[in-house]
Amino acid sequence: MYKNTDNPSSGGDSPFLFMNTLKINDKEFALYLTRHQIEQAVRKVADAITADLDGKDPLFVVVLNGAFMFASDLMKMVNIPSEIAFVRLSSYVGTQSSHVVKEKMSLDKPAGKRPIVIIEDIIDTGITMESYVNRLREAGNTDVRIATLLFKPGAFQKSYPIDYIGLEIPNDFIVGYGLDYDDYGRNLPDIYKIV
Ligand code: IMP
Ligand code: MG
Repeated sequence: MYKNTDNPSSGGDSPFLFMNTLKINDKEFALYLTRHQIEQAVRKVADAITADLDGKDPLFVVVLNGAFMFASDLMKMVNIPSEIAFVRLSSYVGTQSSHVVKEKMSLDKPAGKRPIVIIEDIIDTGITMESYVNRLREAGNTDVRIATLLFKPGAFQKSYPIDYIGLEIPNDFIVGYGLDYDDYGRNLPDIYKIV
């Protein structure tokens, strides 16, 4: 179990209760966004997508692994006929972006003129998304949009627009709700910030 470091005597704590602080491998994290705050951010993105894309037959492309939890909650709130596909991109090692974007699983068919909405957990430097959006455009997709739960404006190195943003956050490393630290922490229902 994840070690609850603010209440070490509690021993067998469920990770699905609130913890104020916790440890993953060598790093300490403190509670930063609760599941209720996350839900409000997801709702905001869902409402905007529903308003823009109802009747337009969108294809949602979920970026694995990080966006799995966001996508699951988001798609339950986007109440329009649509298709969902999954891709796997990877650009991070530890707490630093490696800036090398690998496509480990790709879309099997182009959407053409249908809108594509890429569902991402977080946009940090913006390098991953820029490279992936360009790849989709080169493959003949004309309407490519980006929906991200979290955005770090202080780390963003690019200038392209981001269509749907749940929450803007400071430039700190976070885990939980799909986001990992060296592959751990993805199943935490709340988001924790490194201390
Ligand atoms: P970017 O290319 O720098 O925008 O990085 C995007 C990817 O890095 C995201 O899809 C995440 O998987 C990962 N990432 C960025 N910031 C964090 C963070 O604070 N915690 C965990 N993963 C992150
Ligand atoms: Mg990601």
